[in-house]
Amino acid sequence: MSEFLTDVETLRRRAREEIEQGPITEAYGADRDRVISVLNEALATELVCVLRYKRHHFTAKGLNAGPVAAEFLVHATEEQAHADSIALRITQLQGQPNFDPEGLTSRSHSQYDASSGLLDMIREDLVAERVAIASYSEIIRWLGSNDSTSRRLLEDILAVEEEHADDLLSFLEELG
Ligand SMILES: [Fe+2]
Ligand SMILES: [Fe+2]
Repeated sequence: MSEFLTDVETLRRRAREEIEQGPITEAYGADRDRVISVLNEALATELVCVLRYKRHHFTAKGLNAGPVAAEFLVHATEEQAHADSIALRITQLQGQPNFDPEGLTSRSHSQYDASSGLLDMIREDLVAERVAIASYSEIIRWLGSNDSTSRRLLEDILAVEEEHADDLLSFLEELG
């Protein structure tokens, strides 16, 4: 194991400098403005997913719709929790979470969908999950070890998006 790099006196002195930055120290390794802006894209992605799943939950109809509509609501609730934790992380980075409905769909990586058929809804939700999975995987690799808290947050969210995609694939296989 290599030597611990910084001596205690230097660590203590640096911690007192720029105290108004809260949790951000000079050891923060990423480009903070860029991370905040990428996290705002992830926030928009989650918010669009909440809206799409709510739309699908309330409008799913047909013999097989019951359990699928219930699952749409579970996903909507989990996407909302993702949005909240991303917004919290943005504030920890001393940034502003963007909840502005203006431009929401262009900030988001995933798309809204207002299909009327149950199978179309499931297919569009699966596509949106796959978009989120690809985009979060890329962000995680990009963050690397430069902001491990944001990376870990996205890793936890990614695992849930993979579950969502798998749920949707099971529905498609059963009903399609
Ligand atoms: Fe999500
Ligand atoms: Fe999801």
